[in-house]
Amino acid sequence: MSYYVTTPIYYSNGEPHLGHAYSTMAADILARHMRQRGEDVFMLTGTDEHGEPIALAAEAEGVSPQELVDRNAPKFEDLVERVDSTHDFFIRTTDKGHVERVQELVTRVRDNGYVYQGTYEGWYCPRCADFKNESEIGPGDTCPIHEIPLLREKEENWFFRLSAFQEKLEKLYEDEPGRIMPDFRRNEALSFIRGGLRDVSLSRSQLSWGVPLPWDPDQVMYVWFDALSNYYTALGYAREGEDLSERYWPASWHILAKDILKFHAVYWPAFLMAAGLEPPQRMFIHGYLLMGEKKMSKSLGNVLDPFEVIEKFGADALRFYCFREVSFGQDGSISTEGFEKRYESELANDFGNLASRSLAMVDRYRDGLVPETDADPLLLADFDGINERVSALLDEAQIGQALEEIWVLVRRLNRYVEESQPWVLAKDEGDAARLDQVLNGLTEGLRVLSLLLHPYLPNSTATLLAALGEPELSLREFASRSGGQKVERIEPLFPKL
Ligand code: MSP
Repeated sequence: MSYYVTTPIYYSNGEPHLGHAYSTMAADILARHMRQRGEDVFMLTGTDEHGEPIALAAEAEGVSPQELVDRNAPKFEDLVERVDSTHDFFIRTTDKGHVERVQELVTRVRDNGYVYQGTYEGWYCPRCADFKNESEIGPGDTCPIHEIPLLREKEENWFFRLSAFQEKLEKLYEDEPGRIMPDFRRNEALSFIRGGLRDVSLSRSQLSWGVPLPWDPDQVMYVWFDALSNYYTALGYAREGEDLSERYWPASWHILAKDILKFHAVYWPAFLMAAGLEPPQRMFIHGYLLMGEKKMSKSLGNVLDPFEVIEKFGADALRFYCFREVSFGQDGSISTEGFEKRYESELANDFGNLASRSLAMVDRYRDGLVPETDADPLLLADFDGINERVSALLDEAQIGQALEEIWVLVRRLNRYVEESQPWVLAKDEGDAARLDQVLNGLTEGLRVLSLLLHPYLPNSTATLLAALGEPELSLREFASRSGGQKVERIEPLFPKL
């Protein structure tokens, strides 16, 4: 099965922060998990480099937009690499490959009769690059997201006939509720659609930083149509000489935050349908990482520097923390103290310590050879079906819940050590068979858990899997190995700070 997962493309008008890394880490967890299941995976992330958000920032800094994005895009690319994202391509909307394909796409939409000339008049937020409906305007004609005054705009544009898709979109989300997750976000999208869809500007005349319309090069494409198209255009040029669109379109999942729901759930599927293409299969809308009560954002200046966090805790700890602390789909506060607490209690103690002491006991009591024996029925029952449960949750992009399922078993193994007391069994030759079973159970449990945790903790689980003599990443059941392999002691996976 082909599996295509995307992240939003981030505005490269400033420094990347943890909020950006969050969506990419989420997509990467899904991508890694699906690869472990043997699926044909493609993951995309990248930067959005056109439109006012970029043009205004460049102006403020006294550089050209191109200079600005050339300076900033590498920082975003660096960030996603530092969080160990395994994306298959990093798209920049200034790529020639993207520009050419987005022009083709918009031409198709026009050829199909969904484009006309008109005058736009209304409210506009230059930071969202969003034409706001009456229902989306804050007190005193401000942007509720950026808390800045909206601009009153009037301009001659080319329009996209969004209104033609009202019924189709309603039907799409009524008939197939799983298309927008969580469900309350689907309701939000539906109520926006039911409120009546007005046609929307497809181009801007008062802005020059963007993709020129092929039939009217004085106008540039409205940045949202340019940006959304990345999910499709990337497949056309990510691999030289290969067109991957047949193989991966429609996308399995778009991952994004709630601020850009309307564009993804309303504009994008309509635009695709207008071009004669299928809408994405599903999208998952996550919440915001908050610092205290406020959204972490560049404009509010309350960002946690992911580079620093990674320097101190490692990428695994950051990935783990973000999906353990904040329920995926909801807003949630994060903090340095929170990081340190979870690092200590869950990563260093629950998991790291369990791994070190289990391996040390196999080394000490059985010269590092995992005893060959029948599996302990107690553990067999606990581990029964875990791969299926985690897979089913991740099929629904339930990243936090899947992690909780796995962690229940991490705790279970810790209790198992306490209950079975291998150090006591080791004192009595009469308990040798029982000790064999316990050590076998611990290594088997660790092996299964490391495989399941691999998408979350790619580095520490790689170390652990190597020490466990487990060369493969594919998910396999508890007791699928009966023992006999050599294991090695390890240094603490998460050293105490
Ligand atoms: N360029 C548009 C998206 C175009 S997608 C076709 C954009 N860029 S952005 O730089 O503002 O990034 C928005 C995305 O970054 C959010 O949708 C979310 O995925 C992520 N986040 C930015 N700040 C965030 C938090 N504080 N918390 C969680 N995610 C955040 O909008």
